[in-house]
Amino acid sequence: MIPQSFVQELLARVDVVDVVDRHVKLKRAGANYVACCPFHSEKTPSFTVSQTKQFYHCFGCGAHGTAIGFLIEYSGLNFVDAVKELAQSVGMKVPEIRSETAQRRTQEGEDLYGVLLKAAQFYRTQLKEAPAAIAYLKKRGLSGEIAKRFGIGYAPAGWQSLAAVFSDYDGKALAAAGLTKASDEGRRYDVFRERIMFPIVDVRGNVIGFGGRVLETGEPKYLNSPETPVFAKGRELYGLYQARRAIRDAGRVVVVEGYMDVVALAQAGIEYAVATLGTATTALHVQKLLRQADEVVFCFDGDEAGRRAAWRALEVCLAQLQDGKQVKFLFLPDGDDPDTFVRENGKTSFEERLKEGSVPLSAFMRQELCDRVDLATMEGRAGLLESARPLIAQVSASFLKEAMIHEFSKLGQVDPATLAQKVGAKSMSSAPIRHFAEAPRKQVTADNNEKTILAGLIAKPELISQLDVEIEHRSADDVLSLLREVVEFLRSSSALPSSAGLVQQFSGGPYDDCLAGTLRKITSDWAEGFDVEAEFRDAIAQIRKKQRAQMIRPLIQHGPTEKWTADEAATYVQWEKSAKDVSSPKAN
Ligand code: UTP
Ligand code: MN
Repeated sequence: MIPQSFVQELLARVDVVDVVDRHVKLKRAGANYVACCPFHSEKTPSFTVSQTKQFYHCFGCGAHGTAIGFLIEYSGLNFVDAVKELAQSVGMKVPEIRSETAQRRTQEGEDLYGVLLKAAQFYRTQLKEAPAAIAYLKKRGLSGEIAKRFGIGYAPAGWQSLAAVFSDYDGKALAAAGLTKASDEGRRYDVFRERIMFPIVDVRGNVIGFGGRVLETGEPKYLNSPETPVFAKGRELYGLYQARRAIRDAGRVVVVEGYMDVVALAQAGIEYAVATLGTATTALHVQKLLRQADEVVFCFDGDEAGRRAAWRALEVCLAQLQDGKQVKFLFLPDGDDPDTFVRENGKTSFEERLKEGSVPLSAFMRQELCDRVDLATMEGRAGLLESARPLIAQVSASFLKEAMIHEFSKLGQVDPATLAQKVGAKSMSSAPIRHFAEAPRKQVTADNNEKTILAGLIAKPELISQLDVEIEHRSADDVLSLLREVVEFLRSSSALPSSAGLVQQFSGGPYDDCLAGTLRKITSDWAEGFDVEAEFRDAIAQIRKKQRAQMIRPLIQHGPTEKWTADEAATYVQWEKSAKDVSSPKAN
């Protein structure tokens, strides 16, 4: 593992403008530099590089990152290689030693990455010496080039083949990596034997596990790595690392069921496919996918099992949908999977099907639900509404939800307001007239204040010393979650990280979208000369004011002063005291 402090120091020494400019010619535009974005196609430049803050951000596609992130995205380097390349360019030496402060877990994780990589290299060299395995891959239409792109290898026969490259074969690491198991007598043996090996790689390019396929037939057909500290099936997508560029270019990602489907599609020139790892689609998968592209197409076999898997995916997607993004389903003819289909019919035919034959999630949902009832009867229509109700209730994308309410109330022949009420949405046409006292007051929402604080900390990390309010905890809120993590990171770092250091730390993480939005705010709304500090202090003052109001609310609700408990009385005293904090925001 490369120590965090080294990454921070490196980012302070390199200039992102130089790094980007070596690959994409930049033009000066005010305080920033711009170019046509290398990550999506455009005619007017919206790719912006900030020299003062050392990060880039594209207003068109949301791509963002530091000099390190740029090399990873643009040149396809993995994290370690990107760091090495940059370090070399400024004459720094990447330390080999682990930082003592690194946690045990990451240390173990780090060892596992090394072990898994070494195993992957071993399997790759073994493939060269296994004519039967090569013949099998050839038979399935794969070129050497594609095998290389996916790092495909071969686990030879024999119970302890890995001992050839691991001197510590019986040690803990191989077992922890899921590569060996112990027999009843306690003898270690290789988990993967006589199998084509598909390395599973995370978005940073680390090998985190394997899928191994038998040659020809045998049980189980695929053997997968067990869950380990570095590998969680419900989180990872096979092929995502290799597909990222193509996904961005196509604006679309196709999700298929199998390793071979991903590889065969890539062989046919369709490089934007990924696969779940023999598990059902999870919410994390969907979040990850929707972050990569505006259009996610689930491609399932046309059989009964395929439809069931599609329905499960639909259920998981509902809560993740966003207006402006599309989730679709493509069903292949019964008996085909993407691999056989594309080998038989070719790229064009597959892409045509993708364009014309895929159905939007809403249409698939309507079709499935309607198929289960008889719409000619009242009972059938009631049944339809009853089964649609909990599904629509999960949708948070507001326009889509509204549209679904209209669609299903029409099918069920009821007033949209009735359905709207049951799915926890106010139908726009039938929103009750607000009572005068409830009329919305104009106020700065907490979210805006917290967005400002987040942007402030990223633009000027030194502002952390002025942050003296509690950040509320709402786990579903990305702004708050990212803000809490940024605050924690800033407070726990021994040397204050830079803007780029923060961008590096949180890029590609669970709140990447939120980070993109924040960088957009910094690069567009906060032009040169903007008083970030004043804005930041004002946001803190607003939050303090709001928290103060919340403090007194229960007391007022409780009734007159004589009914207050001792605690409540104490709260009141505090509330009184906090008055001056609120009226005069601290200026330190
Ligand atoms: P399929 O049985 O559809 O396999 O399983 P496939 O991808 O078409 O494989 P080929 O074409 O016969 O080589 C789909 C996925 O389900 C998981 C694997 O992830 C596989 O890619 N699977 C399948 C297993 O994990 N174990 C199995 O025994 C079978
Ligand atoms: Mn197949």
